[in-house]
Amino acid sequence: PPASDYQAENATVSQGAVEANHTGFTGTGFVNYDNVIGSYVEWSIPAATAGNVSVAIRYANGVANGASVDRPMDVTVNGTLVRSALSFPSTGNWDTWQTVTLTVGLSAGTNRIRAIATTASGGPNVDRLSTGVPGDTAPPTA
Ligand code: GCU
Repeated sequence: PPASDYQAENATVSQGAVEANHTGFTGTGFVNYDNVIGSYVEWSIPAATAGNVSVAIRYANGVANGASVDRPMDVTVNGTLVRSALSFPSTGNWDTWQTVTLTVGLSAGTNRIRAIATTASGGPNVDRLSTGVPGDTAPPTA
């Protein structure tokens, strides 16, 4: 399918805050997950028909408390766990963004894709979820 971007700041956030105090995000900001297990962002993704789609989650994971640590997240689609503790490795600093890509099966209609922190560090800072564009790390154009 063609590329579609879904900004984290427009998604449903549980235990997190929309912020814009680092550079390089797209849209108007990013979600800073609270540093707890279970914090999440959930996107609503429309699909005309059922099928597999490539999903890229764009994130930054810098230094916290003097350390660079992985911030793995579970991914669920419509409530079903599809990836357990998917790795979101350090990006070096909070202004450097990378993508983690995965392929998920969607149903026809509106799909709920949720990325849930699995450690007490919480999730990384999350900029957006894109469908149909594996490896997209394009910087903001404005
Ligand atoms: C820093 C950083 C935040 C980040 C946080 C964290 O405070 O500025 O953007 O979310 O660390 O460790 O989660």
